[in-house]
Amino acid sequence: MTKRGVRFECSLLAGLALTGLALTPSATATEKVAISIDASKAGVQINRNIFGQFAEHLGHGIYDGIWVGPDSTIPNTRGIRNDVVAALKAIKVPNVRWPGGCFADEYHWRKGVGIQRSVSLNPNWGGVTETNTFGTHEFMDFVDQIGSDAYVSINVGSGTPQEAAEWLEYMTTAQPTTLEKERAANGHPAPYKISMLGIGNESWDCGGNMTPEYYLSQMKIYSRFVRNFNPAQQDKEQMLKIAVGPGGDEPRWTDWTETVMKAYQQHTWSWDITGLSMHSYTVGHWPPSYASVGFGETEYSQILKYTLEMDALISKHSAIMDKYDPQKRVALIIDEWGAWYAPLPGSNPGFLVQQNTLRDAILAALNLNIFARHADRVRGANIAQMINVLQAMIVTDKEKMVLSPTYYIFKMYVPFQDSTFLPVQFNSGTYSHGGISLPRVDAIAAEDKDGKLWVAFTNLDPNEAVEIELNVTGVTAKSTSGETLTASKVDSTNSFDAPNIVVPKPISAKAQGGKLTLKLDPKSVSVVSVE
Ligand code: AHR
Repeated sequence: MTKRGVRFECSLLAGLALTGLALTPSATATEKVAISIDASKAGVQINRNIFGQFAEHLGHGIYDGIWVGPDSTIPNTRGIRNDVVAALKAIKVPNVRWPGGCFADEYHWRKGVGIQRSVSLNPNWGGVTETNTFGTHEFMDFVDQIGSDAYVSINVGSGTPQEAAEWLEYMTTAQPTTLEKERAANGHPAPYKISMLGIGNESWDCGGNMTPEYYLSQMKIYSRFVRNFNPAQQDKEQMLKIAVGPGGDEPRWTDWTETVMKAYQQHTWSWDITGLSMHSYTVGHWPPSYASVGFGETEYSQILKYTLEMDALISKHSAIMDKYDPQKRVALIIDEWGAWYAPLPGSNPGFLVQQNTLRDAILAALNLNIFARHADRVRGANIAQMINVLQAMIVTDKEKMVLSPTYYIFKMYVPFQDSTFLPVQFNSGTYSHGGISLPRVDAIAAEDKDGKLWVAFTNLDPNEAVEIELNVTGVTAKSTSGETLTASKVDSTNSFDAPNIVVPKPISAKAQGGKLTLKLDPKSVSVVSVE
């Protein structure tokens, strides 16, 4: 069977389990699942950029979350919180998307450079004032401090090609232009590296309500004139140019992907794209109404059902891309994903504040697994959002900081960054509740750069443990070591007062006859290495 065939089989089984129509008998009453990995059938690389983050000027995502200013009593380096930097370094964030989001299409970069910063407004998010104290240099400093790359979204909605082109010249040229001198005078003589460039954001909605045809004509202009001049990025490490793509499953987004990709197939020397963005939140219904905490098994299973729809959505838009780009030159970048719930009572609804629970950790693992299975096309993703907003990794309040359950999933999955996908075969079994049937178990496997084998397991069932029998073809497995994340309730969470409720704990397996058996706790995510 081809590698792609095996991957397809896994997602087909998951799909069938969703409809309660598993082809083979589902996991038995003892909840035993046999998983086999063929280590000789290495697939594509799982691009580390699928573990990207998104930091928008929204609520306390930037101000207080990252930026406290150099005069703050909160320990900081040039105004950037030291505690947040240390936490993000530990999860090896590959790229950070900034400044938005909807904010990006109203952002004018000049307001955020130099000594004098203009105070403007943030009409999208609470109508608050924007001090612009966190601008280009501060963002680049932050990215540098956490050891990450910059993914910059340019303003197509209310800006001009000239404004965006000058911003890129300001950031990237090494030639002695006026903008280069201004950058140097503002503290950074060397050109900045921009790994990824978003040409607009949700241009079908908050980015200007454009038709696909209108966006396409704009995008071609920006693609032509917005250049990265960094000498180190001309041949190697070229900047990805990412066009706005679909925002869901409606026909208008099918049309959008068709329009952009059809044009791409016929593109000429004068414009190009190397990425297409996709946004898909796990929300249930708009406006977001699911509670982020204080829920039970019914809401747990419903949200996980919604989140698993990501797989079909990627397949649908990948198929359109395959039609016009069979060589898969254009990456699909899921640059906004994650859970979007009702705002926490008492919070500013424009700040998108929600709680982060064990359910979100499981949701994150399931999505990362989906991205890994589509790694041939999905080569980037950015969870929304990094700090204090939506499905955040980190929550801060003045000098306090706490790491969310989702943070720990990103930490446990670090070995999968730039690893090689390995096909996994298993019968997921079925977990059912209130008329919803979901796969009981999900799993992915990969080989890291040192040849070490890693497996991630999720037990979606909140009531029953699962016993895994793991067989790696061609490998006599002797031991495993790793970590598991679970807690007593589906809505267990970490707080400033109790930060260690949902934290990873060691997990081990028994080796017998070259196979490994390990027990997955109910509602848990485990990542192990196999020796
Ligand atoms: O992440 C919050 C918002 O969701 C972003 O600004 C926008 O792109 C999307 O609608």
